[in-house]
Amino acid sequence: MNHILENLQPSASVALMARAKEMQKADPTVIGLAGGEPDFDTPERITRAAIDSLLAGNTHYTDSAGIPELRAAIAEKLRADNGIDADASRVLVTPGGKYAIYLTVNALLNPGEEALILDPSWVSYGPIVRAAHGVDVHVKLQAAEAYRITREALEAAVTDRTRLLILNYPNNPTGRILHTDEAEAVEAFLLAHPQVWLLSDEVYETIVYGEKSLSMGARPAVADRVVTVNGFSKCAAMTGWRLGYLHAPEPAFRLIARLYSHSMSCASGFLQAGAAEAFSCREEMERMRRVYARRRDLFIVAMNAIPGVRAEYPEGAFYAWVFFDLPGMDSQAVSRYLMERARVVGMPGSAYGEEGCALRFSFANAAEDMAEAARRIREAILALN
Ligand SMILES: Cc1ncc(COP(=O)(O)O)c(C=O)c1O
Repeated sequence: MNHILENLQPSASVALMARAKEMQKADPTVIGLAGGEPDFDTPERITRAAIDSLLAGNTHYTDSAGIPELRAAIAEKLRADNGIDADASRVLVTPGGKYAIYLTVNALLNPGEEALILDPSWVSYGPIVRAAHGVDVHVKLQAAEAYRITREALEAAVTDRTRLLILNYPNNPTGRILHTDEAEAVEAFLLAHPQVWLLSDEVYETIVYGEKSLSMGARPAVADRVVTVNGFSKCAAMTGWRLGYLHAPEPAFRLIARLYSHSMSCASGFLQAGAAEAFSCREEMERMRRVYARRRDLFIVAMNAIPGVRAEYPEGAFYAWVFFDLPGMDSQAVSRYLMERARVVGMPGSAYGEEGCALRFSFANAAEDMAEAARRIREAILALN
């Protein structure tokens, strides 16, 4: 048996989501805010295009890297929205952004080589690096510094075995976007370390509440070492379709495409035909974004009104990152307590490598549920005093 896989923990968010569903069977009033899944339906135009394609008999293997019209639409989107000098020949369509990350990590690391991950970080980066026989090196960004990336923090973690830096903006779990000073720090770092590639995970791109997050792939000085990952799950409410994509410069693209052809062959053709419609669903995406914005405001205001609880307004994604100042309780204890007492399920910050006592609550849930969850959290916290 593979010792590395034996030592990996299952995804904490997937496990807690399943736990919430289990609890809801016995008690339908349980409010599950642990998952990272839009509660909206996929825009109808996308679904119809997939059904039409299926009925038209599109049930065969496609080109391994994806159907030409979708790859072209993705390249056009990356050029127009992200300022990336993208070419359809370097776009690969994958079953979910997660698999695009998996391929990239495997293509860029040799056994024992290191990937820098900025904590707090999404729960799957570390396991994906380890499963690829790489070493995940965690750079702790500080809540007190608004989790800003600094050149110093990166330099302190780099070694002669570092080959990859993973960035995720808009960020899960903190809701931070990538700002100009940080992009400049990352660029300077990459220029000083020509052996290091960058994986930029931008799956929450369209869900922002002010400025747009920057794409490192748009910076010409380093673009030849930036793999950009994005997908349809979060932005177009298509989690169950399992469709994402990446854009990679040569020579990474060649290796990624090689591994893909041996591990997945291709993504489903009729689903890809549906996804090709996603880029003409801007209005629907904008409507979802506005609804997230209202829920965000409601929940953040409610959290900050509870004594000993504080939360910044996230700049992007659909997570509230909430700090609890409760003597003797860490994030796991608070998560357990709220689950039992308030029947509200939130992810403990420790799952993301946060040392402070933070919980992540998804506001990709109905506003009434968010309001009720906030009310119950308040009651539960007040009951402790
Ligand atoms: C930061 C981040 N990256 C990637 C993914 C993967 O999304 P998908 O595989 O559904 O495209 C997720 C999903 O939770 C995520 O939060």
